[in-house]
Amino acid sequence: MSVIYENNEEKIYIRGGIQLKGNVPISGAKNAALPLMTLSLLIKNGFELTNIPDLADTRLMSDLLNDLGVSINWKNDKLIFKGSPVKDEASYDLVRQMRASILILGPLLVSKGSAKVPLPGGCAIGSRPIDLHIMVMKALGANVYYDSGFIVASLKSDGLRGGIIDFPKVSVGATESAIMTAVLAKGKTKILNAAREPEIVDLGNCLIKAGANISGLGSNTINIEGVKELSSVSHQVISDRIEAGSFAIASSITKGDVEISKVNPMDLKKFFDVLRMNGMDIEIYGNNVRVSSSKRPLPYDISTEAHPGFPTDLQAQYMALMALAEGETIIKENIFENRFMHVAELMRMGAKVTINKHKAVVNGVKNLKGSKVMASDLRASMCLILGALAASGTSEIDGIYHLDRGYEKLVDKLSNLGADIKRLK
Ligand code: UD1
Repeated sequence: MSVIYENNEEKIYIRGGIQLKGNVPISGAKNAALPLMTLSLLIKNGFELTNIPDLADTRLMSDLLNDLGVSINWKNDKLIFKGSPVKDEASYDLVRQMRASILILGPLLVSKGSAKVPLPGGCAIGSRPIDLHIMVMKALGANVYYDSGFIVASLKSDGLRGGIIDFPKVSVGATESAIMTAVLAKGKTKILNAAREPEIVDLGNCLIKAGANISGLGSNTINIEGVKELSSVSHQVISDRIEAGSFAIASSITKGDVEISKVNPMDLKKFFDVLRMNGMDIEIYGNNVRVSSSKRPLPYDISTEAHPGFPTDLQAQYMALMALAEGETIIKENIFENRFMHVAELMRMGAKVTINKHKAVVNGVKNLKGSKVMASDLRASMCLILGALAASGTSEIDGIYHLDRGYEKLVDKLSNLGADIKRLK
């Protein structure tokens, strides 16, 4: 089976300059759903997830698990998993399309006793190595080696045993790998320099409901005591903070007034603090955030950091806003080496940006102009959509299959807020 999740034929057309108004509900978080779905390799008798976003990436993960032998019933936003993996080798055609496929390595190894996972390919935003995932497997006592483009892992005769995993670098995915691989290992595991993202807490909370013994979630030290098995569980995926942040910028950049609902505002604390510094009105009530503005944004410098810092996944979108700010903004990208791919395209719309290694200097202009632009990756696509929403005239955005990876019903959601947006062949 080889399904290609990219569709090169469609384009998005936006006539900009319309203030967005109304309410937008936020979908389940892609980056929480993907690791949670891989738990179906570990939880074999009754596992359900709700609030799953319908995205190219979640469909791809579903196909990857299905190809391994897990049966999946997808109804609306609910996934019901049954059965267990029947093979230990993941499909190259599927893995190569999504970096997050590496998350199956630990659960597959624990479930089958061995795992053969193709090396995920390169990526537009940097080289994205997987050494920390391999470090996790070794620290917990697995044999791991590379063979002809595959990572091959197997258990030693005494299985996996707890250990100390001291990450030299904070990594979301490797922290998730460590949690998922350690929950059924014998004895205690300590994860030091762990990532603290809400999606990791969500993964841990689901595992705790299934009987895992985990403490310290959301801090940089996580302790796990292995249990013998995990029991059946139903879990609701948290809401997508990056989608929520993107809509907050959509409101800000169009001088709009948008209520964003089904969001956990605490997950975006740093981001909303920054938007307030930009002069936006941010009103938080329960799981709703109202973002409104009537003036040009004020410049405010940011540096991307691991959570709870400013998220790298909102850097490109924030640059679109600062492209229209009243002055100069410095944006530093500290997480990925090559995450300014959106800059050249944003400049086609009239943005003034210079890049020096990890630093972008954005000189705000009064107006952006509608242009033909090409999206290079998921968040870069959203940056261009945001620029187009604010620009005068019509923009044509190509490469939009990237958007399908991470934004559920984007065109419908923006149309409902009043945007003049169409997706056409
Ligand atoms: C996750 C998110 C992604 C987000 C990123 C940072 C998912 C599915 N994706 O990606 O949207 O942009 O966190 O918040 O949740 N690194 C290594 N070796 C490794 C792994 C990572 O050197 O084995 C480096 C990366 O190259 C990067 C840094 O660590 O420079 C952080 O990456 P990481 O947190 O692992 O990102 P992902 O989990 O891949």
